[in-house]
Amino acid sequence: MEKIKILDKHFRLYIPAEDIRKTVGEMADRINRDFAGKEVIFVGILNGVFIFAADLFRRIRLDARITFLRLASYQGTHSTGEVKQLIGLSEDIRDRIVIVVEDIVDTGTTLEHIVRQLSSFQPAEIHIATLLLKPEVYHHHIKLDYVGIEVPKKFILGYGLDYDGYGRNLESLYVLDED
Ligand code: IMP
Ligand code: MG
Repeated sequence: MEKIKILDKHFRLYIPAEDIRKTVGEMADRINRDFAGKEVIFVGILNGVFIFAADLFRRIRLDARITFLRLASYQGTHSTGEVKQLIGLSEDIRDRIVIVVEDIVDTGTTLEHIVRQLSSFQPAEIHIATLLLKPEVYHHHIKLDYVGIEVPKKFILGYGLDYDGYGRNLESLYVLDED
């Protein structure tokens, strides 16, 4: 089993790049079917989503645009619980179909803030697409329309997700090796 060290922590291979690619392709296919003939705007949540959003978006066959918001709720490997908006919305989403794209939904607090902020711009619909979900931790009621992979309550790294800024460039997903 492949092991890596990032800063002070050890991680082991969790989901190989090939499985991620398949999951992303299947999600894009579903979105393409569900919104056929419609115009949608994807809103990616930076920084973690940038790789997933790029891979998902290039498989979208709709009249689609993409824009990004930047928020942060994490420092190190534990959620700080506070969410800040750092970059605002650059595309007009009023009366549009919005698909929020997230790398990972943990407690759901970040998503809750995003959906609340986006709602104030009065989009026609808001849908959620997340590559990863920690079902044991998620405690909000926002419907997650597209979930790629359910993961355990452990710290995940790679494919855009970082540990204190490092590890985003790993092609596969890794999990914190605590033993
Ligand atoms: P939430 O607000 O608790 O749902 O946390 C969501 C945000 O925290 C995500 O958008 C990520 O940026 C970050 N996050 C949550 N879990 C992990 C993880 O396992 N690895 C890396 N980042 C994470
Ligand atoms: Mg994120």
